[in-house]
Amino acid sequence: MCGIVCYVGKKQAKSILIGGLKQLEYRGYDSAGIAVQDGSNITCHRAVGRIVELEKKINGQEINGTLGIAHTRWATHGEPNERNAHPHTDPEQKVYLVHNGIIENYGLLKKKLQKEGHHFSSETDTEVLAHLIALNFDGSLNEAVRRTMSQVEGTFGLAVIHRDAEGEIVVARRGSPLIIGLSDEGNFAASDVSAMVRYTNQVVHLQDNELATLTLDDFAISTGQAKRIERTVETVEWHAEDADLDGFPHFMLKEIYEQPETVMNAMRGRLEPGEGVPKLGGITPVWDQLKTCRHLVMVACGTSYYAACVGRYIFEKLTDIDVEVELASEFRYRKLNFPPNTFIVALSQSGETADTLAAIREAKRKGARLLGIVNVVGSSISRETEAGIYNHAGPEIGVASTKIFTSQLAILTLMALLLGRHQNLSLTEGVEAIRALQALPAQIKKILSQANHIEAIAEKYYRCPNWLFLGRKFNFPIAMEGALKLKEVSYIHAEGYAAGEMKHGPIALISPQMPTVAILPKDDMYEKMVSNIQEIKSRRGPVVAITTEGNREICDLVDEVIEIPATLDFLNPILAVVPCQLLAYYCANLLCCDIDKPRNLAKSVTVE
Ligand code: AGP
Repeated sequence: MCGIVCYVGKKQAKSILIGGLKQLEYRGYDSAGIAVQDGSNITCHRAVGRIVELEKKINGQEINGTLGIAHTRWATHGEPNERNAHPHTDPEQKVYLVHNGIIENYGLLKKKLQKEGHHFSSETDTEVLAHLIALNFDGSLNEAVRRTMSQVEGTFGLAVIHRDAEGEIVVARRGSPLIIGLSDEGNFAASDVSAMVRYTNQVVHLQDNELATLTLDDFAISTGQAKRIERTVETVEWHAEDADLDGFPHFMLKEIYEQPETVMNAMRGRLEPGEGVPKLGGITPVWDQLKTCRHLVMVACGTSYYAACVGRYIFEKLTDIDVEVELASEFRYRKLNFPPNTFIVALSQSGETADTLAAIREAKRKGARLLGIVNVVGSSISRETEAGIYNHAGPEIGVASTKIFTSQLAILTLMALLLGRHQNLSLTEGVEAIRALQALPAQIKKILSQANHIEAIAEKYYRCPNWLFLGRKFNFPIAMEGALKLKEVSYIHAEGYAAGEMKHGPIALISPQMPTVAILPKDDMYEKMVSNIQEIKSRRGPVVAITTEGNREICDLVDEVIEIPATLDFLNPILAVVPCQLLAYYCANLLCCDIDKPRNLAKSVTVE
């Protein structure tokens, strides 16, 4: 879950690499480093903490060279300190290497090399790679990296330079993302496009077990078996300014405010209002099988998993399909047995989450068909699924996922509506659903206009160390997502629970110091939720109610009310999550937390 970027070109590499690292910082931010080559001379600097610490260290230093590699780290092996920061080198300091991933057999390899007299200066798995590449080097860096790839087990996205291989960078990938960027100013490679989108939108995705040599004006891709590969250059739809704060104090708040537009983008060109049926070009390749599918399994992690949980309720409402929802990290180790024509839907913002990737590979092995709902174009999950739907939500920089969650819910609704309209859903129901979907962006805007009110509620309760989130049916997963957001960015302990479960345990936690966020739009679960709130109030627990606008009666029962516009019951989750996102944001802001880069987290979890 680190970020790597490298450049070889006409310009001085130092500032290009530092700029690229800043765009990648959300991937890992406990230490960073850079190595720049000028002829056979390589200058290397590493620092603990954020990129700014590295910048402070090299500011004013003349670091010449138009070729270099750089890294921002999320520690897996060895604590965050300068010794464990990348780039890593071999004992003669000829090889310099940055790596994203985990070398699983590094322990064995390290022991063997130590027996041969090698001394290691770090606790990392990565350093073993530098030693092996140096050992395998006999004039061709590309060949040395290829030999080393055959000796290691695990995952890597890596970039390496060598004193005796001037003018070239060799990059390689297995399991961790690596994208090559091509421009007139030179060539790049990085963990994701945001590190180079300022210079180019012409990219090539390296696939597993491939490596490439980058030079000033060329790149050559080959396989682990030295077979040359020709690959098409793709154009990225994002722009550099998409990765800027645009006047917001944090990316999380910017992305919360982007939701009217990103929900619209999730539906753009995908609605046929007159027919009451969506059109999803991305699943056309498998449509003949999918439309007869009666068993569907959604797999995902974290926030994407909670979107899938809402998705199950929506599919049950709109289709006759039996839907299961699975945590990818558990699913991959289960004894899987699928009825014929089972479809797996993998949900992932990054498209690189290791557990979700492994889960779909396991399901494929067991004969299931694979679909993806993914935001990052060209990512591993998008390439390893047969068909799918992109979110078109632009880059999500804040580690806490917000706009992608509502976009995932909108897309799941379109998918269920499309399948339902080919089953028992009537034209009228379809038209009504599409009308309600089209009203969502304006309704989200209306909720965002209550930001000051929501901030005032946060000011009242942000010192409370424990919170409870409750919901039923469609809104039960929103309770879990609301709790996750608060935990992620404010470090306040929070639990999301199905309200009906409260009496079976969590009610023991209720006290005047424990606020409960109750999600109760005016749907068929409303009365049940009111009784749950009465149980909490009778134990003097403060309650923040998220409910349908105009619901006056609830004001007498609860402490705070946040209104959401009226919509269809299966669309309430898209609206109800927005106040939860804002509550989490404002609590974290009041607690002065590092909102966009919460401790211990990273945006894309590319290791198991
Ligand atoms: C959510 O805010 C977190 N960043 C995390 O739970 C995330 O949802 C999870 O890691 C899945 O990521 P993905 O959607 O990129 O696969």
